[in-house]
Amino acid sequence: MVRIPDATDPTPVAISHATLADVDELLALWQVAAENDARPTDTREAVRALLTRDREACLVARENGRILGTLVAGWDGWRAHLYRLAVHPDARRRGIAQALLEAAASRLTALGATRLDAMVLEGNELGHAFWRNSGYAPQPEWRRWVKPATSRPA
Ligand SMILES: CC(C)(COP(=O)(O)OP(=O)(O)OC[C@H]1O[C@@H](n2cnc3c(N)ncnc32)[C@H](O)[C@@H]1OP(=O)(O)O)[C@@H](O)C(=O)NCCC(=O)NCCS
Repeated sequence: MVRIPDATDPTPVAISHATLADVDELLALWQVAAENDARPTDTREAVRALLTRDREACLVARENGRILGTLVAGWDGWRAHLYRLAVHPDARRRGIAQALLEAAASRLTALGATRLDAMVLEGNELGHAFWRNSGYAPQPEWRRWVKPATSRPA
């Protein structure tokens, strides 16, 4: 259990990973807390698929059983990517995102990752402040190239 210092609330915040029982709570948190622009919409099926494929991928910070923050620490066997960093607006500036990132870095380096990366929208100043403070920097020589995936005709 990771103890997040907070002078006004002695309750420990614990970092663990989400389970299939948490899917609806994750979706509800992301509605109010996450950066939701310019990405595919989250669905129950997509979150279930993530947790089924890699049961430890979605790190969560809980207080009194309630999920206050998340970070998906994805490892595909080749590269590590960080997604869905979000902390409930009422719980920000308590070090919860920092604790989630430390847990993610431990997990990913133990799995073999040599570099961690996060997609951050150009206009997300809050995100920039957090990632910069954590030692991350934009990589100007790269742009992400994307195309929506379509199912193959039956
Ligand atoms: C970004 C976010 C996850 C940070 O969560 P948090 O738990 O409040 O962050 P922490 O308390 O761990 O902050 C760690 C450091 O990040 C920086 N930081 C965090 N929030 C900041 C803010 N509002 N203004 C300036 N710096 C900030 C600070 O350096 C902070 O250290 P300090 O509190 O000692 O000064 C949270 O604000 C959030 O959910 N934002 C909306 C979703 C989002 O944009 N996610 C990032 C997607 S790329």
